[in-house]
Amino acid sequence: MELSVNIDHVATVREARKENFPDPVHAAVEAELGGADGITVHLRSDRRHIKERDLSVLRHVIRTDLNLEMAATVEMAGIASEAKPDRITLVPEAPGEVTTQGGLNLMTVKQDLKAYISDLKSKGMRVGIFIDPDAEQVKEAVRVGAGYVEINTNEYTRTKRVKDETIKIARVAKAARREGLIVHAGHGIDYRNILPLLHIQEITGYSIGYAIISRALFVGLRQAVSEMKEIIKGVR
Ligand code: PXP
Repeated sequence: MELSVNIDHVATVREARKENFPDPVHAAVEAELGGADGITVHLRSDRRHIKERDLSVLRHVIRTDLNLEMAATVEMAGIASEAKPDRITLVPEAPGEVTTQGGLNLMTVKQDLKAYISDLKSKGMRVGIFIDPDAEQVKEAVRVGAGYVEINTNEYTRTKRVKDETIKIARVAKAARREGLIVHAGHGIDYRNILPLLHIQEITGYSIGYAIISRALFVGLRQAVSEMKEIIKGVR
């Protein structure tokens, strides 16, 4: 069971003052020392938090799996091809959004995602897609050649009908595994709401940012990561 720690919010604090600290690279090392299996950054088209510099320094410094979240644009493909993260998670991006608003809707994507993904894969990167928990999206993800999907847990983390949402996510996770995809989950996951998800055997990776970075303010990042790892290990 892998935990990839999203460190965007460290860069958000840095950018609040346009300083050169806190450094997300420092955060990545602390997260690794706390037991993170990977580091996630989202290089947004508006560069509001993570910058190219962060990506390229992270590439040289971290020892675990580097996951780049990005929009499926020509610009980002160029940057990824240079930086060579271990994997790329394609996400939708809307101007002005506070955070990613939902999964990439593969039914409405106009571009040739199959060629786009194939090009990235040929350069040695694994490629996955952030999708809403919907079996039709899984089928499309397979068709365009994704190696994994990250199921959007945002709805799950906000609903009062946790059981229904858990069942929905479990069904989609099983469908994705049957199709040969690796299954991850992420968005809005915290130290409590992760528990029911951990019983879904098909989910083998989590991408968690906000809850861990928030807790780190009080206990330090190394410990905040290690606490999450302990919770995950306690169930899986
Ligand atoms: N996965 C994806 C695709 C995301 O866009 C985000 C938010 O940047 C996360 C996971 C992490 O979400 P959170 O910060 O709520 O843990």
